[in-house]
Amino acid sequence: MAILVTGGAGYIGSHTILALLEQHHDVVVLDNLVNASDIALQRVEKITGRNINFYHGDINERSDLQKLFSQNNISAVIHFAGLKSVGESVKKPIEYYKNNVSGTLVLLDEMRRAQVKKFIFSSSATVYGTPESVPLRETSRIGGTTNPYGTSKLMVEQILQDFAHAQPEFAITILRYFNPVGAHESGLVGEDPGGIPNNLMPYISQVASGKLQQLAIFGDDYPTIDGTGVRDYIHVMDLAEGHLKALEQIHKQQGIKTYNLGSGVGYSVLQMLKAFEKASGRSVPYKIMPRRDGDIAECWADAQLAKEELGWTAQRDLDDMMRDTWNWQKKNPAGFQP
Ligand code: NAD
Ligand code: UFG
Repeated sequence: MAILVTGGAGYIGSHTILALLEQHHDVVVLDNLVNASDIALQRVEKITGRNINFYHGDINERSDLQKLFSQNNISAVIHFAGLKSVGESVKKPIEYYKNNVSGTLVLLDEMRRAQVKKFIFSSSATVYGTPESVPLRETSRIGGTTNPYGTSKLMVEQILQDFAHAQPEFAITILRYFNPVGAHESGLVGEDPGGIPNNLMPYISQVASGKLQQLAIFGDDYPTIDGTGVRDYIHVMDLAEGHLKALEQIHKQQGIKTYNLGSGVGYSVLQMLKAFEKASGRSVPYKIMPRRDGDIAECWADAQLAKEELGWTAQRDLDDMMRDTWNWQKKNPAGFQP
């Protein structure tokens, strides 16, 4: 039996297949490489000494899915494939709804046809919109998303609730990630944002490496510890391990479950910057700029439910996140580009 990982060549997917292979799972990857490189898969094979059965294809293409399901014995699907840039989603809503919502519908339909009944979905803390209070619990109010990316995640969560109700023989786990950062400790795989990064950590590390000149900090007048935005950063290998725990549980599970995957601790932009400077020994010049549209002041998880039910907690701390981000950046200044 194998695990199908859609979007397995991407940032979180590649780290998760690494963890799966190390735990002796067989892995089939489906990725159209729109935002990834097959070099990531080759590196994972190198680290683990295992083979990945890779299909270069699209979740929107029924024929790709039918071929894959007929050629493999799939026990569960971990669904990472999708588009994830908030800013781009505002400019290209159709592409975002097509990939993230329609693509997921096609995948679920083909799973039903192939009688594959276990599904783990990559959702996001973005579904909480502007938090009424922190920490965020799974029962906190969801909605009020401010961009098509966030709305696409919310829509899929709602679709999954309806689907689980209609198909009680399916087991579905929704994982709401907070802010994934860091890289595998080998420095062979990591986050390759391609172009100018949107997210904080890749931006900071590219400034430290001299690739970018300075960090723009979006606002220092939030009601937070130092005025800059606060987020719950989680090491990508901790996140990967969260998927292994969810997979263990899904075989015993009935119906639909939702878990926050976060560290439970919030750090500000300035705290992140200082921690990165300490880990890298480089200075990161910055400038305070106006707030970024759609940003919230602070957001962190209550990760108690994942601890109680999945037996999962984040193990890696801020120093680990910074060390591994810098290690990856130093070893791969051009990302996966040869
Ligand atoms: P990523 O862009 O690195 O990975 C997504 C992968 O999906 C890429 O390899 C891309 O080529 C592939 N893909 C996109 N559309 C596809 C399609 N139609 N068919 C097949 N493959 C397709 O992103 P990531 O950071 O690894 O995120 C993985 C998932 O987690 C996404 O669904 C994302 O929305 C979600 N998520 C990410 C974050 C984050 O900050 N990184 C936070 C919360 C949730
Ligand atoms: N920030 C800067 N300068 C930058 C980039 C970010 O000051 O150049 C600040 C932001 O204003 C925010 C914090 O750094 O306060 C984190 O920003 P990111 O863009 O790294 O992350 P977000 O919390 O905005 O969003 C991320 C993903 C979303 C996902 C969300 C919750 O990009 O897709 O986490 O999981 F929905």
